[in-house]
Amino acid sequence: MSTTTIIHTKDQWQPYRDKHLKSTDTTLGFVPTMGHLHDGHESLIAKSRQQNTHTIVSIFVNPTQFNSPQDFQHYPKTLDEDVKKLNQWQVDYLFFPEQQELYPGGDQFRLEENTLAQILEGPCRPGHFSGVLTVVLKLLNILKPTRAYFGEKDYQQLHLIKNMVQEFFLPV
Ligand code: PAF
Repeated sequence: MSTTTIIHTKDQWQPYRDKHLKSTDTTLGFVPTMGHLHDGHESLIAKSRQQNTHTIVSIFVNPTQFNSPQDFQHYPKTLDEDVKKLNQWQVDYLFFPEQQELYPGGDQFRLEENTLAQILEGPCRPGHFSGVLTVVLKLLNILKPTRAYFGEKDYQQLHLIKNMVQEFFLPV
């Protein structure tokens, strides 16, 4: 059984990405996560593995989507167990960047959505969906997957991301 290759930076990913994009019969499935992996992630990964020749999972606890710094600080970090699971689930790549790698300019730019993000969970979590959309856009731009997989449990998030992909003509 092959082990999951851990990638920390955009530059490290580049040669792998080139390899995948070069050949027309390889496809890359992407499952973004904040770690602390569970059965829900496993089912998204299984789907990605069924539908693609390769799968990459990201683990990044995204500071811009937390409403309170305490929640961000206390978010569970279980990298060792997560890596064991990724190996077991036969995931090809893990993207595990530092904050500086994804936010080199700090919190300088944000993607805002003015309709769907303002209803349901939006008003209780100001800035949350803007943080989610911003980090997902960055991850899609770096990793350039063929397909990306998001849980249906976070229904509002799922629709916002689908709309963003359409509105920004993202090739995923
Ligand atoms: O659903 C999540 O775990 C996060 O919101 C996501 C999509 C990984 C972005 O940080």
